[in-house]
Amino acid sequence: MDMDRNQKEALNEYDRLQKRICLVFTTVAIALIISIIAILLIPVLKNAMNVTTWTVTTATTEISFMTTTTQTKVRVHSSWNQYGYTVTGGDGDGSDLNKLHSPNAIDIDDDGIIYVCDCMNHRIIRRRPNSTSDELVAGGNGEGKRIDQLNAPLDVIVDQKTNSLIVCDSKNYRVVRWSLQNQTEQQIIIDKIGCRGLAIHQDGTIYVSEYYYNLAVVKRFRKGELTGKIVAGGNGLGNRSNQLETPTYLFVDQNYSIYISDAKNNRIVKWMENATEGIVVGGPNFGDNSRQLRYSRGFTMDNFGNIYIVDSWNHRIVRWSKDFQETMIVVGGYGPGPNLYQLNKPEDVIFDRQGNLYVVDRDNHRVQKFDAED
Ligand SMILES: *[C@@H]1O[C@H](CO)[C@@H](O)[C@H](O)[C@H]1NC(C)=O
Ligand SMILES: *[C@@H]1O[C@H](CO)[C@@H](O)[C@H](O)[C@H]1NC(C)=O
Ligand SMILES: *[C@@H]1O[C@H](CO)[C@@H](O)[C@H](O)[C@H]1NC(C)=O
Ligand SMILES: *[C@@H]1O[C@H](CO)[C@@H](O)[C@H](O)[C@H]1NC(C)=O
Ligand SMILES: *[C@@H]1O[C@H](CO)[C@@H](O)[C@H](O)[C@H]1NC(C)=O
Repeated sequence: MDMDRNQKEALNEYDRLQKRICLVFTTVAIALIISIIAILLIPVLKNAMNVTTWTVTTATTEISFMTTTTQTKVRVHSSWNQYGYTVTGGDGDGSDLNKLHSPNAIDIDDDGIIYVCDCMNHRIIRRRPNSTSDELVAGGNGEGKRIDQLNAPLDVIVDQKTNSLIVCDSKNYRVVRWSLQNQTEQQIIIDKIGCRGLAIHQDGTIYVSEYYYNLAVVKRFRKGELTGKIVAGGNGLGNRSNQLETPTYLFVDQNYSIYISDAKNNRIVKWMENATEGIVVGGPNFGDNSRQLRYSRGFTMDNFGNIYIVDSWNHRIVRWSKDFQETMIVVGGYGPGPNLYQLNKPEDVIFDRQGNLYVVDRDNHRVQKFDAED
């Protein structure tokens, strides 16, 4: 009898245990399915939220503005597809064409041809719209200091007036002009400079950001000048309004105002012509809410003067309204990763004429394009 009862109890116990295990499994499975759906929906939801918070300030208007190279017209958009696609590179680093290794800068010309600074391959490549392959346009002859070589280039701009590229050849401490007509024609235009970033005004004036040791400045080189004039920073390293810490990417508008990404200070500052201090136009706080940055990198502007900033360690692009009031996460912000909605330590960003965004996604060794949606 006792045995029987014990057996029965044991069986009941076993039964309950089975049911409990079954329940736990079902719960876990349901939870997993819900999380997967949620993760897949996050980009869509975030995007939808962005749209609703921004609609008031960005009616789609056309006004004209200046890029580093030329006068151009781009519609102002209020949302971008959260899923990008890869224009070049991807699937790890490599040195063959169509592969990139730690790319870090991009420029675009009037025909929509992009130029990518492929840093660790010591070269600049170009990609025509609708083309399926890259062309080598500068460097690519191994790292070195010969005139036909580059060593860790950090920025590139296309100068359409002279049909050439200007390259910040960082480890050779020089700025070189590389002809796009004649692959064997190169010229050192600025020597002995700790170059980090470049911008060119339509009149040919070149701006170079420079930092090493105790220097953190932006220098201006008017056409034909070999020695530059410091036009921003130069008051020691720091975060005061008359100082810079790590000036990197640059932009200059038609009024000779320079915009500087001061990376370690997590800010974009604007220095007007002849100014003795800068004005913060993006940042300057460290963190991950939409008004904070974790190391600013490249940036670009739309017709309204809104600034689109690469927020590198938050793996996203953030927009600051011209009046400094509103911010919006444009693309990315879903943690570092290789998915099409993710970025991994992005470095630079630029618009094409249609308002689509190209992002240099450094640690994914690729250039991602995010189409404008409205
Ligand atoms: C690229 O392809 C698109 C779509 O097929 C077309 O509209 C566009 O004109 C093409 N651009 C060039 C430069 O061929
Ligand atoms: C290209 O440039 C090199 C160096 O300046 C020059 O010797 C050569 O003649 C040029 N080639 C053409 C086709 O212009
Ligand atoms: C600027 O630097 C000072 C001194 O290092 C620091 O106390 C302050 O928090 C910094 N300000 C910002 C906005 O980072
Ligand atoms: C340049 O200055 C003029 C005159 O002050 C002003 O109307 C214009 O908006 C400025 N352009 C930019 C890009 O700030
Ligand atoms: C800056 O200084 C130069 C030389 O003094 C002057 O010609 C120019 O008009 C000044 N620009 C502004 C915006 O004050």
